[in-house]
Amino acid sequence: MASRYRDDLLRRIQSVSDIVDVVSQYLPLRKAGKSFKALCPFHQEKTPSFIVNPELQIFKCFGCGKGGDVFSFIMAYERVSFPEAVRIVAEKYGIEVKETEKDTRAEEEKSALFRVNRWAARIFKSYLWSEPGARALGYLTARGFSKQIIEDFSLGYAPPGWENLLREAKKRDISINLLEKAGLITGRSEKSGHYDRFRNRLIFPIQDAKKQVLGFGGRALGEDEPKYLNSPETAIFSKGSCLYGFPQAREAILAERRVALVEGYTDCLMAHEKGIKWVVATLGTALTPFQVRRLRRYADEAVLVFDADSAGVAASDRGLDIFLAEEMEGKVAVLTGGLDPCDFLQKEGAEGFLKLISEAREVFDWKLESFAARLDLDTARARNEVLQEMVRLLEETKSALSREMLIARSRFIQGICDRLGVSEEALRQRLRPRLPAGRRGGRRGSEAPPATGRDATAASPSRPLPQGRLAGLQRELLEVMLQGEAFTKSVVAAGGVSLFPDKDYQNLAEAIIRLYQEKGLLVFSDLMLALGEDAELKEMAVDMLEKGRKKGSLKRRLDDCLLGLRKEKEKRETAALKKRLIASAKAADEEEEKRLLREYQKRI
Ligand code: GTP
Ligand code: MN
Repeated sequence: MASRYRDDLLRRIQSVSDIVDVVSQYLPLRKAGKSFKALCPFHQEKTPSFIVNPELQIFKCFGCGKGGDVFSFIMAYERVSFPEAVRIVAEKYGIEVKETEKDTRAEEEKSALFRVNRWAARIFKSYLWSEPGARALGYLTARGFSKQIIEDFSLGYAPPGWENLLREAKKRDISINLLEKAGLITGRSEKSGHYDRFRNRLIFPIQDAKKQVLGFGGRALGEDEPKYLNSPETAIFSKGSCLYGFPQAREAILAERRVALVEGYTDCLMAHEKGIKWVVATLGTALTPFQVRRLRRYADEAVLVFDADSAGVAASDRGLDIFLAEEMEGKVAVLTGGLDPCDFLQKEGAEGFLKLISEAREVFDWKLESFAARLDLDTARARNEVLQEMVRLLEETKSALSREMLIARSRFIQGICDRLGVSEEALRQRLRPRLPAGRRGGRRGSEAPPATGRDATAASPSRPLPQGRLAGLQRELLEVMLQGEAFTKSVVAAGGVSLFPDKDYQNLAEAIIRLYQEKGLLVFSDLMLALGEDAELKEMAVDMLEKGRKKGSLKRRLDDCLLGLRKEKEKRETAALKKRLIASAKAADEEEEKRLLREYQKRI
């Protein structure tokens, strides 16, 4: 199994976990016979077709086709990788997930960094609230920040001087090496020795969801350049993955199911000061997919608040396209009058800010409109450019469903189509057919041709199935095999995996047969475990299990399939033989040619 975790650990997690338990932490489940029902979280629906089966420990949606075991559910719902899903389930049941030794060492280094950062944050804080910090505290107060907010965000101060933190560290026997790794000190260029990174700066600790300190932002108090100095990238700090204010905002974001993003530390602080707590800040960089994915777990909608200057940059920046790609609703609110969010909040108060946010426009509309505004739409060329941009933006979306929703939702598309003189239908035709989400970039990415006309609403698994009679036979046989080990026995006798020419089917057959040979029985949850992180293959298996049960007449279908697949196998072998025969003739290898010919004649 291509997994970081040992099989027995996975088995343990699976045996103590209960899918009903886990799923009901996310959705309200209603009992329906032996199973449980809910509205499917993976597609829009009005009547529940999402079923959780406690006996088999699987879920399946008969509307959209999603299905799998408890790990698949977490992968899909939390949108995380398999190892991450394993960790999440393990955590719910208090099982410790140990990784390899190398990972353990990396973990140890990380916790050392967290510890030294926590210590430094405490020192900075004590400076702010004592004599050396008087001026810094005065500055914060003058800018309108209350004691409460300064405390909540653990703000601090680094006094002037080269060795304040270093001296404290020496008292505590904290290693120079660790301080340097954390970016708290820097090596002197000429003579040996080190000095503090942050000097005469206000300190903004940047924390993760658990309030562990990842790094620091330091704002110059005087005219020092740069205005902001951040910690360098470390094993625990990377600008593109942090969101300033996240732990303070987390609960409010969850309660509101939306989040507002501002650019500056002070903007974020002022929003919280004014009681709008679902606000976080990026660290002055463009938004990353990582950040969007994180936010999407807490909120349905993100509102980006730009001042007029940065709005221009953002409009032409591809960065915002992540919202389309990641299927999170993104909106844009633009401040006018040269104010940044901090000033605006002070001038217009919470009410003004909320009003601004309520007028935010969808990223898609806003980008396209900004694009069109720069052009003269009376010319055919400009109209064509806008159309192309619109097509490009629509093609950013991951699934056909979200693309359709975008087209349906956008008030702007209709308007722009009218102005451009194209119909919505013509626009649709320009779009390249969408690959099902799961396939893109997947390891089987290039094997099958793109499926057309399928989308997230079709009730079949997300991996496109091979088409044709041969594929149908393999599928049917697998459906039968999943109904009980006795059928697998017959399949093994008839040739086993060699009957399955398609890779996915072959992998599934192989897993079933191996389980049968190891244990003499087929427990569906064991199969799920054996398929590990291949969520798509698991989904296929769940689908086949259900289909096979519904269709019935298993024995007859088993015989038909075996007959058909054996014939197909013979055909494949004969064709291969013929190829070799021709090759041997070409190579003038008479011995081989005679041998192959005898074999060939036996077959026909
Ligand atoms: P105030 O001027 O105190 O209101 O701070 P601000 O947070 O509003 O700063 P500004 O709007 O100038 O910049 C927004 C964000 O960009 C800051 O919070 C920083 O994260 C980042 N930033 C700004 N200037 C610098 C800089 O010189 N260096 C670095 N690394 N980041 C900066
Ligand atoms: Mn500012």
